[in-house]
Amino acid sequence: MYTLKEIIEQLINIRRLPTLNPVVVMVEKALNAEEPDVQGLSRVISDDPSLTSMLLKVANSALYGARREITTVQEAVVRLGFTEVRKLVMDISVVNYVADMPEGLLNPIKYWEHSIGVAICMEQIQNMTRVMDKNGPQSHVVGLLHDIGRLISSTHLKEAYESLPDNPDELGSDWNIIEIERDRMGIDHAQIGAAVLDRWGLPTKIVNCVRYHHEPEVCPAEQRKQTYLLSLSDAICRKMQVGGSSEGCQTEIPKKLWTKLGLDEGILEEVEKKITDQIQKSLVLLNISGMQN
Ligand SMILES: [Fe+2]
Ligand SMILES: [Fe+2]
Repeated sequence: MYTLKEIIEQLINIRRLPTLNPVVVMVEKALNAEEPDVQGLSRVISDDPSLTSMLLKVANSALYGARREITTVQEAVVRLGFTEVRKLVMDISVVNYVADMPEGLLNPIKYWEHSIGVAICMEQIQNMTRVMDKNGPQSHVVGLLHDIGRLISSTHLKEAYESLPDNPDELGSDWNIIEIERDRMGIDHAQIGAAVLDRWGLPTKIVNCVRYHHEPEVCPAEQRKQTYLLSLSDAICRKMQVGGSSEGCQTEIPKKLWTKLGLDEGILEEVEKKITDQIQKSLVLLNISGMQN
């Protein structure tokens, strides 16, 4: 059985864990400042040539209604708005991160689909209900990164997942990945993900949502609502089998996730439809950028 410290040490120092593009950390830090410096951020993005070229390709695509070709990050910010650019920086960075990972036990496309599905679900619920007063825009980042510990551990700590059947459904309907991980490693993917994101320097607000996404009830009060929204979105995507069911089947969405957020379950049908449409749109964007392989 490992300790959390030993696992992080192993991952970062011995197994040479790739890091997420540092631009993501800079963007998130700057946006948590009182007055985000948009110009400074455009400069930071522009300093990364591969991120810039992919961002411009996407910003110039028909999906964003491109007419005149734009050639700089500043123009992309003007055309798309900072929130959209922030999302694209995150999407592109996570896709590149997944592509850089050595082969693991998770299918990278399915992993990405689940992550983007949860991010989109959080945003849709927020747009429809305004359930969060603040931090709404942060949902995309939190959704996209929530299972990064799962990606890392299934790639770098494969032993823990050995002997799990290829098809998770073989374990029956009520298995829980958190319990299996805690049993085999003494730690779970939410803890690993949070520790790694913290080490990379992402804001505590994001780290805490990731750490408690399978147990929002014990999340510190400041991030509890957003973590409930994350858990609800995760449960919806697992029920819909967005990205497969490798985190366990979820035949029913626990009622308390709705009630804790003061939401009506009646919105589920509309949310599900919107998620399906948006995921398709994001997959097209990835194909455009040639990032899927
Ligand atoms: Fe998870
Ligand atoms: Fe998940």
